[in-house]
Amino acid sequence: MPAMQAEADAARAAGRRLALVPTLGALHAGHLALVREARERVGPDGHVTVSIFVNPTQFGPGEDFAAYPRTMDADLDLLAHLADPERGDAGVNVVFAPTPETMYPFGLPPYAMVSVRDLDRHLCGAHRPGHFAGVTTVVAKLFLACRPHLAVFGQKDAQQLAILRRMTDDLGFGIELVGHPIVREADGLALSSRNAYLSPEERAQAVVLSQALRAAEASVALGARDAAAIRGAMASQFATVPLARVQYIEIVDADTLQPVDTLSAESPSEGRYLAALAVHFGTTRLIDNTTLVVGK
Ligand code: PAF
Repeated sequence: MPAMQAEADAARAAGRRLALVPTLGALHAGHLALVREARERVGPDGHVTVSIFVNPTQFGPGEDFAAYPRTMDADLDLLAHLADPERGDAGVNVVFAPTPETMYPFGLPPYAMVSVRDLDRHLCGAHRPGHFAGVTTVVAKLFLACRPHLAVFGQKDAQQLAILRRMTDDLGFGIELVGHPIVREADGLALSSRNAYLSPEERAQAVVLSQALRAAEASVALGARDAAAIRGAMASQFATVPLARVQYIEIVDADTLQPVDTLSAESPSEGRYLAALAVHFGTTRLIDNTTLVVGK
């Protein structure tokens, strides 16, 4: 921690822009897109920190904390290749890979935690009690240690991003949160470190998540405004994928993350909704989402 902090402090004192990309490691092309976005935003002279930490406080009992892929050597290799000698930037300036003892010096559970009320009631929050308090706690600690000007997160974890935005604004961190669009395989499957767990049959059927989202978009484009009907269009995609077990299919207001019955332009988010789902294939849990927009 002190070395990362010292480098960040020195870069800030030198007037450079600081970006932080927090990750759990097991990096894939989606993460690299976040790092490139961070670099573009701070420029070649900016300072980009990538954190790699499998954060124990965001995994519940019975979740995959112990089994979560840890691929540090491969991760460091991927990040090293982001350096761009032509532009004259290092790609990543600092990789911060703390131990649990560094992040949680008083042991687990930590004495102090950060939580955001209400926004975790639905979607993943309803099925992963304590998960988002673990995420907000570790991200708050990373923000305090690095004090970046901006931080980049993937939109695949849309609920996480909405909760982190609320935390950042409510606690006055003064950090810009950048949401990077979901990066997908050619067939539409959103990139995820957990895709590595899928068998070939499961991998083939996992395309259903993005197909369900396309079905939601199509039904809104055809004029559907009834959330149950749109969820029904999503659910109907699962008829031909016997390995998939749906955990949830939900449509929520994009700002409040509360479920709605009817989509309308006069909503807290002015017509922006999140269609989101979580699906199990065996013990692997995948999530995906899209934003639905309805005009006046
Ligand atoms: O999205 C993730 O990878 C994690 O939840 C994060 C933001 C790195 C916090 O541990």
